[in-house]
Amino acid sequence: MLQEIDYPISVQFDFESGTFDPVKVRTDRCVSDLALMFADKKVVQEIINNGDRLVYEIWYHPFETSKSDMALGVTRILPGKVGAEYHMTKGHIHERDDQPEIYFCIQGEGYLLLQTLDGDFRAERWTPGTISHIPPMWAHRVVNTGNKMLIFVASYHLSAGHDYQPIEEKGFKKLVVETDGKVAFIDNPHW
Ligand code: F6R
Ligand code: ZN
Repeated sequence: MLQEIDYPISVQFDFESGTFDPVKVRTDRCVSDLALMFADKKVVQEIINNGDRLVYEIWYHPFETSKSDMALGVTRILPGKVGAEYHMTKGHIHERDDQPEIYFCIQGEGYLLLQTLDGDFRAERWTPGTISHIPPMWAHRVVNTGNKMLIFVASYHLSAGHDYQPIEEKGFKKLVVETDGKVAFIDNPHW
């Protein structure tokens, strides 16, 4: 017997703004939320002391049914840097090791960083239209290296869970920084 939550629903995405309607939850992440992630702790502290700064927004809609669930998330990363390091998401690995995810770059440019707990590392170049499959067991982070908003859609099972701890402790193997006006990947000294 179908319950109310088992019926199809749709939301309307706006390609210009990268927002959709209706949205259930909007979460903002500021530099203070990424204090453990950005490498230049002095600049992080200065930004926080000056009132903090928005790095990205997550617009989120869980589609829960009586049998299973899917989540839709749109992330909007503002252009900018903290020190030499480009704005980026915190990055996480799914708690369940059988849970993949799809990311779809709508607008902007940058990189999807992927990393296993054993230290395999990949960086996928992103332009509008790039769709990436994040296999289970790969931590993931998106970096905005462009000069406008980077917007991407994510779809995953709610049961995947989010583990931020491995990234908080060591980060990703590479930092994505601006050097001489260009994007550069440098070794993370804490790895
Ligand atoms: C969900 C997912 C995305 C991110 C979002 C923000 O599994 O990968 O919806 O949650 O892009 O990034 P984090 O969660 O790393 O702050
Ligand atoms: Zn994820």
